[in-house]
Amino acid sequence: MNSPAPNRQSLNNEQYFIRNIRQTDLDEIYSIEKRAYKKGWSYGIFQQSLTSNRGFILIRRDTDNIIGYGISQVIVDEFHILNICIHPDYQHQGLGKGLLYFLLDKAREFSCKDVFLEVRASNLIAIQLYLDAGFNEVGVRKNYYPSEKGREDACQMCLSLF
Ligand SMILES: CC(C)(COP(=O)(O)OP(=O)(O)OC[C@H]1O[C@@H](n2cnc3c(N)ncnc32)[C@H](O)[C@@H]1OP(=O)(O)O)[C@@H](O)C(=O)NCCC(=O)NCCS
Repeated sequence: MNSPAPNRQSLNNEQYFIRNIRQTDLDEIYSIEKRAYKKGWSYGIFQQSLTSNRGFILIRRDTDNIIGYGISQVIVDEFHILNICIHPDYQHQGLGKGLLYFLLDKAREFSCKDVFLEVRASNLIAIQLYLDAGFNEVGVRKNYYPSEKGREDACQMCLSLF
């Protein structure tokens, strides 16, 4: 059984804010993606995601730089987190957790019952973040991701909101 979903944990609003992704943000987002992942999304996937998905960016107020993003998709009453990423220079400061909880609030706004995501089996930091937020491991997609050694499994995770 799932543990209770986490409550809102806001980011430090004096230093950061979140807004929807725009076309003009893509170059900056893509440069973060290339630094944060060994094998991340292509520029084209980000472009497609602007039309079909809901994307949010975390911005540092004083510099106006993008320091993180979360991309999600609502399918009826399911909320899918497709990508969540914090710029490597800003990781491990609680921002990923803040962005994740922001997305969970969005899922509640859309009256979604469940939140789903997939994560590389080797990404223990992200898996711990999701477990702490109440996600459960619900399956494995064998050889789902390209990796430096060939292919890698995806761990499927789910959080029930109601
Ligand atoms: C996964 C990611 C979004 C986490 O964001 P973050 O801002 O670094 O994480 P936070 O500081 O909010 O920490 C949240 C939790 O993650 C884990 N964590 C984060 N950094 C960690 C580190 N260096 N070592 C161990 N655990 C770590 C911890 O469980 C932490 O909780 P705690 O602070 O209560 O111990 C970020 O590391 C990232 O963007 N990684 C590259 C992209 C990626 O892998 N995205 C996930 C794809 S599914």
